[in-house]
Amino acid sequence: MNDKRLNTKLEFAKTVVRDAGDYLKAHLADDLEISEKTHFDDLVTNLDGEVQDAIIAKIQETFPDDHILAEENDVRHDINDGNVWVLDPIDGTTNFIVQKDNFAVMLAYYESGVGKLGIILDVMNDNLYWGDGKTSYRNSTELQLTAKPLAQSLIGVSAYMYRTNAGGLFDLSHQCLGVRAIGSAGIEYTNILDGKIWGYFSNLSPWDYAAGAVLIAPFGYTTLQLDGSPLDFQGRQMVMSIPENQRTVLSETKSI
Ligand code: IPD
Ligand code: CA
Ligand code: CA
Repeated sequence: MNDKRLNTKLEFAKTVVRDAGDYLKAHLADDLEISEKTHFDDLVTNLDGEVQDAIIAKIQETFPDDHILAEENDVRHDINDGNVWVLDPIDGTTNFIVQKDNFAVMLAYYESGVGKLGIILDVMNDNLYWGDGKTSYRNSTELQLTAKPLAQSLIGVSAYMYRTNAGGLFDLSHQCLGVRAIGSAGIEYTNILDGKIWGYFSNLSPWDYAAGAVLIAPFGYTTLQLDGSPLDFQGRQMVMSIPENQRTVLSETKSI
């Protein structure tokens, strides 16, 4: 990367995310404090809060003029206002609690609403995905990705959207080899980057897609609402991350 200022932020982001992954691994066998947020299946642990607080403290110390949009405790800054870090301290908290696997730490950096950096750590596989919207890497390997035809591919889905045929997603499933539902947006994005799934369809908040959207962009991928309109980085929205040249795939899918 040529931009020295951004490169400093990238190295900072990679370090704080890796440190967070190490912290989570070190506390994997702890007795977790688990709380319900909106419903019995919407859970948060003490480690979500601890990781978020630690990363926010480091951002504020290192880049005091930057802003933060983060999942826990209502840390909400408008994505379009200045330099904004977008943080999901543990993505896939339910997996973290139940499986101790398939969870991620995600951090993105946006300037006036434009994605500049994306970092996803697949904690248990120790794979750090990082990029600047022009190139993306897994650890030290530069990624190459060319989407195969849908008919030769799998798709990543939200189980709820699949079973309710939201946006015609159940219908779309008949045009591909099958569907997979992992329970972590971050891991789904790493699966796009590794060529394991063609696209991802889910009901997401900004911290769920901010890093992934930057990481898949170099490969002709786009992240939009299901009807093709742009994301607003406000509340939850039904989101698709798919090859840009397939953006009408759902609207052109016939019901079965
Ligand atoms: C959740 C996961 C899940 C997705 C949910 C997200 P969290 O994030 O990414 O896969 O379906 O919509 O909220 O709450 O575990 O950070
Ligand atoms: Ca989370
Ligand atoms: Ca999340």
